[in-house]
Amino acid sequence: MKTLNLQPIPVAYPRLPSASSILPYLKQIDANRWYSNQGEMVKNLQQKLIGRFLGSTGNVLATSSGSAGLIGAILGSSGRATPEKPLCICPSFTFVATAASAVQCGFTPYFVDVDPNTWAMSPADLMQHPMLAKAGAIIVVAPFGRVPDLPGWQRFSDETGIPVVIDAAAAFDTLRVPPNFRLPIVLSFHATKVLGSGEGGAIMLGETAKAEQYFAALNHGLSDGRVANSLGTNGKMSEYQAALVLAGLEGWAERHLANSRISQNYQQKIPSIVVSPKISAAYALLECENAQHLAMVQARLTNSRVGSRKWYGNGVHNEPAFSHFPGDAMPNTKAISERLLGLPSYCDLAPSEIDRIADALLGA
Ligand SMILES: Cc1ncc(COP(=O)(O)O)c(C=O)c1O
Repeated sequence: MKTLNLQPIPVAYPRLPSASSILPYLKQIDANRWYSNQGEMVKNLQQKLIGRFLGSTGNVLATSSGSAGLIGAILGSSGRATPEKPLCICPSFTFVATAASAVQCGFTPYFVDVDPNTWAMSPADLMQHPMLAKAGAIIVVAPFGRVPDLPGWQRFSDETGIPVVIDAAAAFDTLRVPPNFRLPIVLSFHATKVLGSGEGGAIMLGETAKAEQYFAALNHGLSDGRVANSLGTNGKMSEYQAALVLAGLEGWAERHLANSRISQNYQQKIPSIVVSPKISAAYALLECENAQHLAMVQARLTNSRVGSRKWYGNGVHNEPAFSHFPGDAMPNTKAISERLLGLPSYCDLAPSEIDRIADALLGA
């Protein structure tokens, strides 16, 4: 009975920039009368992202979503699938958008297992994979924003000649791009990410030489003025989306500090929890012992009106729309997805709410 009086604590409770913080940007958009196609807001955002992630060189293309960014990155680096190279190798331990983006580019996803320690695909393991000869694209995921072995993937792509895209959708706060890194990295600004504009994303390119190809992929395949020289999509970010991300960046230092306090607080109360900076502050993950333990923990949380979620389900290969695609055996994906449970994590989660979550877990 007592629990009925408790306020629910949702697993995610995004807070995007306030109306007052975006107003100056909106007024500027009114004055500019330029709403998409590389307007002032988008250009400004792209410059800021270059500065934050790539130093002075490189290119950033703002996109309408993380998924549009993935599609643009695959089309820009691999092009569409061919009969000789029909496969896109990707992990199953990710959000469905990773594999769905490959399908949108004509590829058949081929699911491989992840490393049990990093939760990501391993470049050394994949180097020996029998399907490499048929792979026209590879997507490496930063699960929950946990950054994979970027230098290892650069070497892998250089040695095999296979284009690799880094799906770092959730990694805005954890990503550090190593020097001379040339693979496309995709971010998402979805509302559930640490820096959100509702929908939005970006492709970051350390290599500027092929930027035109990526740009065309996001702009209906148009290059040389208005000629459709390739098959593309409309994946451009609008000025309004860019205004939201810019306002979010203005308040980023404060937001980042609030996120760090929540991670520290969680760690004090629940020492085994996985939080930022190992993963993005958008998540707090409890490593349960096994599937039964996770079910028991989740039931206790539900009983205390605390939200929780298995963010990647049981792996994409178990989702009905993806279960017919080929892949390897998945012992690590199974073990990890059975054990990792997402707990509430958002910028204004109060210490008293973390106490309540810890109390609910007591004895579990
Ligand atoms: C790992 C991963 N990849 C891709 C995406 C797709 O991003 P978006 O929702 O912005 O299209 C997400 C979004 O949640 C994600 O978590």
